[in-house]
Amino acid sequence: MEFVGSHILSVDQFEREDIDRLFTVADDMVPYARRRRITRVLQGAILSNMFFEPSTRTRVSFGCAFNLLGGDVRETTEVKASALAKGESLHDTARVLSGYSDIIVMRHPVEGAVAEFASASRVPVINGGDGANEHPSQALLDLYTVRREIGARAARQGVTAGIDGLRIALVGDLKFGRAVHSLLKLLALFDDVSVHLVSPPGLEAPDDVTAPLRARGHTVATYQELEEGIQHVDILYVTRTQEERFASGADADRYRGLFRVNEEIYTEHCEPNTVIMHPLPRDSRAQAQELDEDLNANPNLAIFRQTDNGVVVRMALFAMVLDIAEQVHDHALPVTWYTAKRTPPRPIPR
Ligand code: NCD
Repeated sequence: MEFVGSHILSVDQFEREDIDRLFTVADDMVPYARRRRITRVLQGAILSNMFFEPSTRTRVSFGCAFNLLGGDVRETTEVKASALAKGESLHDTARVLSGYSDIIVMRHPVEGAVAEFASASRVPVINGGDGANEHPSQALLDLYTVRREIGARAARQGVTAGIDGLRIALVGDLKFGRAVHSLLKLLALFDDVSVHLVSPPGLEAPDDVTAPLRARGHTVATYQELEEGIQHVDILYVTRTQEERFASGADADRYRGLFRVNEEIYTEHCEPNTVIMHPLPRDSRAQAQELDEDLNANPNLAIFRQTDNGVVVRMALFAMVLDIAEQVHDHALPVTWYTAKRTPPRPIPR
C-alpha cells in the first residue's frame, strides 16, 4: 500500500510487506523513544487527537509519538466538549479540524464513524478504535510485540523465530474486542499460524473476523475451557470484557470473572516461557481480574513492553503517512537532560 497521505482505518489495507516496512521504521524509532536522541523532523506539524471514548494509552502514546517527532498535539476528549454536542455532523467537524491540523487520530464509539469522518477530512485520519469494529494501531503494536518477544525468546535458545508458525491463544471477549478483531486479520497475512479462540459462549469471535485465517489455511480452534485453550501456545493474549458494548452492566456481569489467568493457572497449564500479553486496561476490580496481578513479577508478562512498543509503532505510522521516515536521523540531536529511560534505575535516596 501507499502509506504517504493515506488514512489508516482498517488492517485490511495492509499486505505483509507493508507490515515489514512499518516495523523496520519502528525499530529505527527506538533511540528516540528511549531518549537516546531527539528529533525535530515534525516541527510545525499539528496532530488533532479526537477521543470520544475513554482512553489512556492510545491517546497519550499517539500524542507522545507525535511530540517525540517534534510535532504539537491538540486534544479533544469528549463529545460534550466539542461542537458534535451541538448537533454538528462528523462531516463538518472533519472539514473544520482538517483545516487546523496535519493529521488526525480519532476514537469513536460507533462502528464506521472514523471512516465517515475520514471521508470528509482533507488530512490523513488514523482510526484509534471505532466501536467494536477495529483498532489497527493496537493490532500493529501487538504484532510488533509478538515479533520481538518471540525473537528474543528464540535468541535465548540460540535459534531464530518469527510470526510464521506462531501458536497464539486469544482469551476473553472476542466478540466485542476490536483489538482482537484487527489482530486476527493481521495474523492471516503470515504463514502456518495456529490460533486458539478461548471465549465463553456468547462472546465468540465473529465469523467475518476469522474467515481470512480459515481461507488461508491457518489452524483455528475454539475452546470454552480456559485451562484447555491456553496449552501449547507461544503467546497467551488475554482481553477484558468490553462492558461498554453490552446493553447493560448486568449483561456484562454475566461474563466478568469467568476466565481468570493467574500465576497458578499459568504455571500449571502453559508451556514454560509462554509470553503473556493484554491490550490493557486489565480490569482489576474484584469481580473481573482476567489477568491477575500475581503475575506482575513473571518475566514472561510482556504487557508493559507492549505499551512501550506502542510509542515506536505509532511514531512509525506518523513517519510513513507524513513521509519523513528517511529524514528522522538528519534532524537528530543529543538528549541533554537526565533520563531514567536509558540508564539503569537509580535507588531512590532516603
Ligand atoms: C483496547 C480498546 O480500547 O479497544 N484498549 C486499548 O486501546 N489499549 C482494549 C480494551 O479497552 O479492552
